[in-house]
Amino acid sequence: MHKNKSNNELESQLDAVSIALKKSIKNLDSYTHVRGESLYVDDVNIRQGTFHAVVFDSPKAHGKIKSVDYSKAEALEGVERILTYKDIPGKNQIGGIIPDEPLFAEDEVHFWGMPIALIVAETEFIARKARDLIEIEIEELPVITTGKQAKEKGSLITKPRSFVLGDPEKAFKDCEYVFEGETFSNGQEHLYIEAQGAYAEPLENGTIKITSSTQGPTAVQRTTAQVLGVAMHKIEVDVTRLGGGFGGKEDQATPWAVMAALATYHLNQSVKLILNRHDDLRMTGKRHPYESTYKIGLSKDLKILAYEAEFLQNAGAAADLSPAVAERTLFHATNSYYVPNVNVTVASCKTNLPPNTAFRGFGGPQGMFVIESAIAKAAHDIGVTPRAIQEANLLDENDVFSYGQIAKKVEAKNSWESATSIYNIEAIEREVEEFNNSNSAFKKGMALMPICFGISFTNTPMNHARALVHIYLDGSVGISTAAVEMGQGVNTKMMQIAADVFSVPIEKIKIETTNTTRVANTSPSAASSTADLNGKATLKACNALLKRLKTVAATYLKVTPEQITLKDEFVYIKAKKTQLEWTQLISMAMLERVALTENAHYATPEIHFDKTKEKGHPFAYHVYGTAIITTTVDCTRGTYEFDSVKIVHDYGKSMSKGIDLGQVEGALVQGIGWMTMEEIAYNDDGKLLSNALSTYKIPDIFSVPKIVETVPLETKGHELAILKSKAVGEPPLMYGIGAYFAIQNAIKTFNPNYDLKFHAPMTPEKVLMGLYESRPTK
Ligand code: MTE
Ligand code: HPA
Ligand code: MOS
Repeated sequence: MHKNKSNNELESQLDAVSIALKKSIKNLDSYTHVRGESLYVDDVNIRQGTFHAVVFDSPKAHGKIKSVDYSKAEALEGVERILTYKDIPGKNQIGGIIPDEPLFAEDEVHFWGMPIALIVAETEFIARKARDLIEIEIEELPVITTGKQAKEKGSLITKPRSFVLGDPEKAFKDCEYVFEGETFSNGQEHLYIEAQGAYAEPLENGTIKITSSTQGPTAVQRTTAQVLGVAMHKIEVDVTRLGGGFGGKEDQATPWAVMAALATYHLNQSVKLILNRHDDLRMTGKRHPYESTYKIGLSKDLKILAYEAEFLQNAGAAADLSPAVAERTLFHATNSYYVPNVNVTVASCKTNLPPNTAFRGFGGPQGMFVIESAIAKAAHDIGVTPRAIQEANLLDENDVFSYGQIAKKVEAKNSWESATSIYNIEAIEREVEEFNNSNSAFKKGMALMPICFGISFTNTPMNHARALVHIYLDGSVGISTAAVEMGQGVNTKMMQIAADVFSVPIEKIKIETTNTTRVANTSPSAASSTADLNGKATLKACNALLKRLKTVAATYLKVTPEQITLKDEFVYIKAKKTQLEWTQLISMAMLERVALTENAHYATPEIHFDKTKEKGHPFAYHVYGTAIITTTVDCTRGTYEFDSVKIVHDYGKSMSKGIDLGQVEGALVQGIGWMTMEEIAYNDDGKLLSNALSTYKIPDIFSVPKIVETVPLETKGHELAILKSKAVGEPPLMYGIGAYFAIQNAIKTFNPNYDLKFHAPMTPEKVLMGLYESRPTK
């Protein structure tokens, strides 16, 4: 439409992107995915006689168990055994951060869906039938379902934490404008396609092998050992891949694996336990809902001088990962803005919901939603655009975060300016305005969403990984790490690293299953750090092998190792190709009795954090980006579509462009879903109402924005990122936050009396109410 210079520029940039994409490697899992050959827990070849298990869970959210009668269930033909906490030989305890979560309820239940017993039977069908025959009597106790209720009753998981920078109290006094308000963001169901599950099998000498759909094989191993009261070396955990995790299998894959192993322990037989979708929805935790309050103070020239927020995190009935998630909320409370005076506090509130857990962004999105709400409120009341406030406060080089880290290699302004110029923000604004002037039943709204996300586990000791690399006699390579492939493409990235170092085709590299006997004591695949940590360990191992091989080649060719390079399966002396091939070199190394296996360890340098002071340098680096979201709201129906999302994203130097683009697009849509349509509902008794896909709406292909454009930000990358290719798993989810504000801006145009609300998700019902509440009639 606008044939101006910047559009041509955009087209040529987009061409460059698509050319690069075509050249780039595919996610190697796609070949088995499309053929239906990819293996998941349910595909494990089960042994003859395998039992099937189903979990009996609490039908009340809070109460004392008066009695449970298993007799009818036990009498059912085909039922092998019903296991309860009484059958636990070790500890009835699965809490990861805090030991506050039993595997099976003992005298009390704390959430609707809390496991009480495991029914083991010849078939899953029989186990389910038996479950219906169990009679339970519960004396109900008061139920807490919200953070506010919990706070009033003093029901907290841990002491609240605060990050403080400068002197906000004093700074507010100097502000031209001060605004306060409340926000709410709801939970989110992970809805991984593969439900939670595990398969346990007895090996010899009391060893149990567990095939688990987990992001954290070591957590499964350690917790199983603790519950069974055996040594960790008796438990082997193996993971081929997950049909999605999204954080929902960082901690919460564990109980099912432990239960299957417990049954195997007692019955000396293989046991398969896979939740069906209803059981999974009811029994597992989700993204944490947050009730928050904010206070924001600005100068006359729109600088945010002070910001305060209190976040009430609805943690559910046990800690799970909540304290870590809460911590990340504080880390990201000021998003990509520099605020000199900050006081943010988070409280993990103990409620009678299933323990809420990690979900892509890990508390970061919840924090960012609040400051974006505060900015929207301030802009509205001052009478400027949110863009003006956002733009005036973007982070700069050497600015300090509230947690003490000095911002380096900052790309906040770069990504913002690139997005607004490449996509021509003025033209977009004009288009929205013109549309709104000439349409009365439809209104467009636009919002910008900058992001800044810290990369590293916020808990410093978790930032390490190992890789075990074998070169086999025939020159093929096998790599084991702690990385769990869950769709994010980490296996492909690790193959690329090895193929690159050895200069052999990708077909020569195999990524083995993730297994606790090959790589031990690992952190979960999470925090977007899997490729960085495991990739760096892989790189280190491959480089060590390469060095050894170069020495072998140099001795044979009578040159120095420094003169040797490997290229396309041949040995080169400087730039000159020799006749020595990769496979010959490997044979030669074997004859010379050189080790063709290497085990490397990588620990992120530079990072540290002091929790007593709440200051330090917790992140290896930050990922930046800016999205421009445009929506059209149907003002008769309250429905909306997203016209476009235009992104400039900081990939660093992307090593796998197709995979990374897939991560950006997937995360974006997941973020839009969280902000606009996915509505988790519990009733006051703590029963999950949105307990099926008919009552819980996730984005489908029709909800995807009509146009999604992503341009890589021009940067130099970062050395702490694997091959300078920055972590990409979680950050783009937060672009979705812009969807909320785009819709809100459209509502404002239709209804000038609309009173801004920050209550996500912005479902069509809420849109409709917003469009017509106190709307002036002509
Ligand atoms: N992408 C797919 N397809 N499936 C997933 O389960 N999980 C996300 C993200 N992208 C996920 C995904 C989450 S929550 C994280 S932390 C990262 O991937 C984990 O992988 P990474 O560390 O390799 O980025
Ligand atoms: N991100 C994701 N998972 C985690 C983290 C984190 O920062 N810390 C502990 N588990
Ligand atoms: Mo991701 S929430 O760190 O698994």
